[in-house]
Amino acid sequence: MTCNLMFVVFLLGLQHVFLLHGKDLHLDIKKSVVLDKKTDLIWRFNETNNVAKCYFNNDPVMFDKYAGRAEVFGQNYSLLLKNVQHSDSGDYTAVLFGAQDQKVVQYRLVLKLYACYSSDPVSPVNLTVDSVSSSSDSCNLIVTCSTVDSQISSIFTCDAQNCSLVEKGSFKAQNYSSSLVVYLQQSFIICNHSNQVSMEQTKKDIKLYCKEKPGKI
Ligand SMILES: *[C@@H]1O[C@H](CO)[C@@H](O)[C@H](O)[C@H]1NC(C)=O
Ligand SMILES: *[C@@H]1O[C@H](CO)[C@@H](O)[C@H](O)[C@H]1NC(C)=O
Ligand SMILES: *[C@@H]1O[C@H](CO)[C@@H](O)[C@H](O)[C@H]1NC(C)=O
Ligand SMILES: *[C@@H]1O[C@H](CO)[C@@H](O)[C@H](O)[C@H]1NC(C)=O
Ligand SMILES: *[C@@H]1O[C@H](CO)[C@@H](O)[C@H](O)[C@H]1NC(C)=O
Ligand SMILES: *[C@@H]1O[C@H](CO)[C@@H](O)[C@H](O)[C@H]1NC(C)=O
Repeated sequence: MTCNLMFVVFLLGLQHVFLLHGKDLHLDIKKSVVLDKKTDLIWRFNETNNVAKCYFNNDPVMFDKYAGRAEVFGQNYSLLLKNVQHSDSGDYTAVLFGAQDQKVVQYRLVLKLYACYSSDPVSPVNLTVDSVSSSSDSCNLIVTCSTVDSQISSIFTCDAQNCSLVEKGSFKAQNYSSSLVVYLQQSFIICNHSNQVSMEQTKKDIKLYCKEKPGKI
């Protein structure tokens, strides 16, 4: 199984871009900034860690932890983070230090698990009806779909004409390599276990448990 880890990069809480784990990330200043003898620019990670410093008329300097891992371009002060890893998650801020400190831009880097792919076929899925309760005008079923590593319980209700899915219940031990869903198709309850390469289904006719007119049983 392989998983894509993705980073979401937020700019000032507004825009966001997506980035694959292990790729490089460009963070731009977004404005034109002019340094002078009295004004430096620092790229900072999480308030206390400095990444790089830019001086007037000098090449940018990387702080030790970032040497080789990041780069700042002297022309526009944009920051390039190389081979972004989980530990890089956090806030990146460019700050101007002059007569007054001024935040120029701030990005937030958040790691998200995006998708996992398996080239193995999915395991079979079992459908069990855990309980049936019927009254004069409705019939309720609790149904569980289970596979070797996940399970989902749901409640269905039927009136004289129709059945519907009332509640998609507890969802246990989801293995990201496949998806397990339950739904109704005509009068059949279907447990569908699938991934990118295969699909397993088990279905049961709800009519076996709920007579069409429960009031008249
Ligand atoms: C900043 O400069 C670098 C190197 O020249 C370039 O790759 C990058 O696209 C520039 N960024 C912007 C926003 O112009
Ligand atoms: C940076 O800040 C983020 C968000 O507050 C936090 O999750 C992360 O652990 C911090 N990273 C380091 C190395 O301090
Ligand atoms: C599915 O049901 C069969 C027969 O009752 C049982 O042998 C098997 O262990 C069940 N598999 C799962 C994943 O619950
Ligand atoms: C049965 O379901 C259909 C489709 O969802 C709906 O249009 C209809 O009103 C329902 N009938 C009753 C009696 O709930
Ligand atoms: C997820 O499923 C795959 C394929 O069935 C299996 O090899 C892997 O061990 C499972 N992972 C977990 C955490 O259960
Ligand atoms: C089962 O689920 C998969 C993935 O969600 C979907 O592609 C497939 O169409 C479903 N099967 C049926 C019969 O709906």
